[in-house]
Amino acid sequence: MNHAGLRLDQAPPLHVPLAFFATAPLFLAVAGWLLLSDGAAVFSSPWTPVTLGLTHLGTLGFLSMVMLGALYQMTPVVAAVPVPAVRGALGVQALVTVGAAGLAAVLAAGLGGGSAWRNGAAIVTLATGLVLVLGPVAVALGRSRTPGETVAGMRLALACLAVLAVLGVWMAWGYVDFRFPGSRRLWTQVHLTVALGGWVGGLVTAVSWQVVPMFYLAAPVPQAWRRVVLGGVAIGVVAPLLVLASAHAGLPWPDPQLAAGLAALPVVLAVGWAHPLLLLGSLRARKRRRSDPSLLAWKAALLHAFLLPPLAVAALLSAAPAPSLLFGWWAIWGWAGLVVHGMLTRIVPFLVWFHRFSPLVGLQPTPPMNRLWPEHLQQVGLSLHLASVLSGVMAIVTGWEIAARVTGGLVMATAAALAAGLYRTWRQRPTPPPENSAN
Ligand code: HEM
Repeated sequence: MNHAGLRLDQAPPLHVPLAFFATAPLFLAVAGWLLLSDGAAVFSSPWTPVTLGLTHLGTLGFLSMVMLGALYQMTPVVAAVPVPAVRGALGVQALVTVGAAGLAAVLAAGLGGGSAWRNGAAIVTLATGLVLVLGPVAVALGRSRTPGETVAGMRLALACLAVLAVLGVWMAWGYVDFRFPGSRRLWTQVHLTVALGGWVGGLVTAVSWQVVPMFYLAAPVPQAWRRVVLGGVAIGVVAPLLVLASAHAGLPWPDPQLAAGLAALPVVLAVGWAHPLLLLGSLRARKRRRSDPSLLAWKAALLHAFLLPPLAVAALLSAAPAPSLLFGWWAIWGWAGLVVHGMLTRIVPFLVWFHRFSPLVGLQPTPPMNRLWPEHLQQVGLSLHLASVLSGVMAIVTGWEIAARVTGGLVMATAAALAAGLYRTWRQRPTPPPENSAN
């Protein structure tokens, strides 16, 4: 493994990222259970309350929970500035967890469902939690003098999280005072562009420049190309925001939703085609041929990304629900879900090994890092994940009740495999040396 240039000595305590990582499978299990119990109704339209709730269990509860944990871990190590108030991270994590679960419940209850007080409390809790993560991480990233596209991409992703949260909370307040800020479709489309393109796409691309060469000894992607991807992400989130702002200010766009969709093309192409082409190229050229399940997960995710641009265009141009549902499912659970799942199986053993075993190297036998999360458990988890992606596609395309319920079961099983792997890895501790070893 190549970790030159990293400040591993600045890493936060192990329990900080692990608390975020450990919560993610719980949200996944609830999402799977919703699919199992509600079946094909979940895949009938992107606008049904239960679908909106499920979307946020996946995006906030699973993806963002892991990504926030990764930010706490990576900011001090990669940007070389500790995150202030890291001791409060567990409290913040609890707020985000309660808030994310609350938002999913508010959305799943539907407009006019639940009491305004309860809805307001859930939204305020989530917003408070996010502000308390965003503030300290933004301070650290702002102070960093580390050059390069990884830190720049992390800053961009964080800014996108702030913007998408403002748009999301603004819209979600419609569930409290029953006034939506504007065209529901336009606002949602721009919110999801900033969320999936800027926050998820920005962080996945930025982190990949760092971790793929480090874990898999791949050649770094040339700097000029990294800048092209970063620029595509930035332009592709700012331009739709300008369309939304000008439409909100009263500019008479003939079709603002189409304009915002076209304005998002740079981020769709950067994340969907440029990034996977570049990364697969550098993975192909690596000298060490050894593979592992996390590398296969990266490759599967990058292959999924190629379908994102055509699916996004189909979703934009079609009034039918299936293209939008397919795009959301493929992007959230196919592409981003596989990146996050694969990275968990690689990063968690690395962190546990680094914190608990690396100080003992040379003093007593230590287990190899790649044995901490048993490989067969990784393979089972990733196979279940891939199977659930495909059965979800079948459920959306055919509308079959049984396919939707099977998908729910598979998502729950994926969550169980992830939780088991996390638990097995977290339990690994060095065996204390025998009492008389000093004699
Ligand atoms: C502060 C956090 C967030 C809040 C308050 C929020 C709120 C909302 C609201 C109110 C809607 C529209 C609901 C409606 O039309 O009735 C929505 C839609 C959506 N949000 Fe979020 N959201 C948040 C975070 C995220 C994140 C992090 C992602 C992705 C990474 C995301 C992805 C989406 C998607 C894909 C939709 C469209 C859902 C669909 O068409 O089924 N949201 N969000």
